Amino acid sequence: MGRRVGILTGGGDAPGLNAVIRAFTRRALFKLDWTVIGIEDSFDGLLDHPRRIRELDRDAVKGILALGGTILGTTNKGDPFAYHTDAGVQDVSGKVADAVREEGIEGLVVIGGDGTQKIGLRLMQEAGVPVIGVPKTIDNDLAGTDRTFGFQSAVDVATEAIDRLTTTAESHRRVMVLEVMGRDAGHIALHSGLSGGADVILLPELPYDAERVSKRIHRRHDKGRLFTIVVVAEGALPAEPDGRELTLSERKQRLKRGGGAASILISQLEGRIEAEMRAMVLGHLQRGGSPVPSDRLLAQRFGAHAATLVDEGRWGEMVCLRNGEILSVPLEEAAHTRFVDLNGDMVQLARSLDVELGG
Ligand code: F6P
Repeated sequence: MGRRVGILTGGGDAPGLNAVIRAFTRRALFKLDWTVIGIEDSFDGLLDHPRRIRELDRDAVKGILALGGTILGTTNKGDPFAYHTDAGVQDVSGKVADAVREEGIEGLVVIGGDGTQKIGLRLMQEAGVPVIGVPKTIDNDLAGTDRTFGFQSAVDVATEAIDRLTTTAESHRRVMVLEVMGRDAGHIALHSGLSGGADVILLPELPYDAERVSKRIHRRHDKGRLFTIVVVAEGALPAEPDGRELTLSERKQRLKRGGGAASILISQLEGRIEAEMRAMVLGHLQRGGSPVPSDRLLAQRFGAHAATLVDEGRWGEMVCLRNGEILSVPLEEAAHTRFVDLNGDMVQLARSLDVELGG
């Protein structure tokens, strides 16, 4: 039997997943003469009885380059180290290792965000499963790489939303608040907000002062600009009155109780401004649909390089983009969240253009 390599997608989907699967499979089949085994729904496909795995041949990856989602399916609930079974939450990582061995699979190519890369690292260290990582997430918040595929597609959707909201905001002289994804990081908000010319951009990394935001709206009004576009990241919250930093779970509680970042902002602005306000939560539109060309290219570069890493036996590494070059980093370095750098050039650009960041 020749070399058999498994591939799976984990966590939330992102435009470009299929482009990675296709690139990896084409290189593996046509250049390296391997067998590629697609595993369904992240690690679940290896744990279910019967196992849900299938060989990916030329036909399986035909016509999927521009297709959104993932032909393999995915889940963000299938952590083998904390797996939900009828008998409660269990560590079933040993079963993943058994399945890999029994199927004659040499190792796994794991396409996912920080959660999935953390699982990949643990599988390698604690269960002896060889893993190569490929960074994915629309949030662009994975350490170890300058960029994840899916991000630019999400930014495109959010920017188009800002453009569309701007004309209706101006016509009605309203304050439009657009809530975008990004989980605990503000990369989508910052990039789309700057691309769409938003007046206010609020990030999870910088707790905001609602008074500053309302002053900006008043200032615009005084200059005859009777509408305002605010982009708020889904994790952004007002600063605590005593300046205390909230823990992650406190932040999540606040956001849940307040109905989300856009609602909280609007309630903070009520009574401070007279203009009508409307909120729009863009949600999963940012994750669906075709990848933009730059994501298709990045995904293919990542997929092809993942095959190179397998070929060279460099298990335990994740492909990455560094200063325009496709390289790799140890999974240990990659399995962390990368937040917006408040001293970085994008934040400086926003400040230099007089965009209100709320803090
Ligand atoms: O990590 C990607 C992401 O889309 C985040 O931006 C968002 O917070 C989360 O996933 C939404 O997850 P779900 O699809 O489970 O609602």
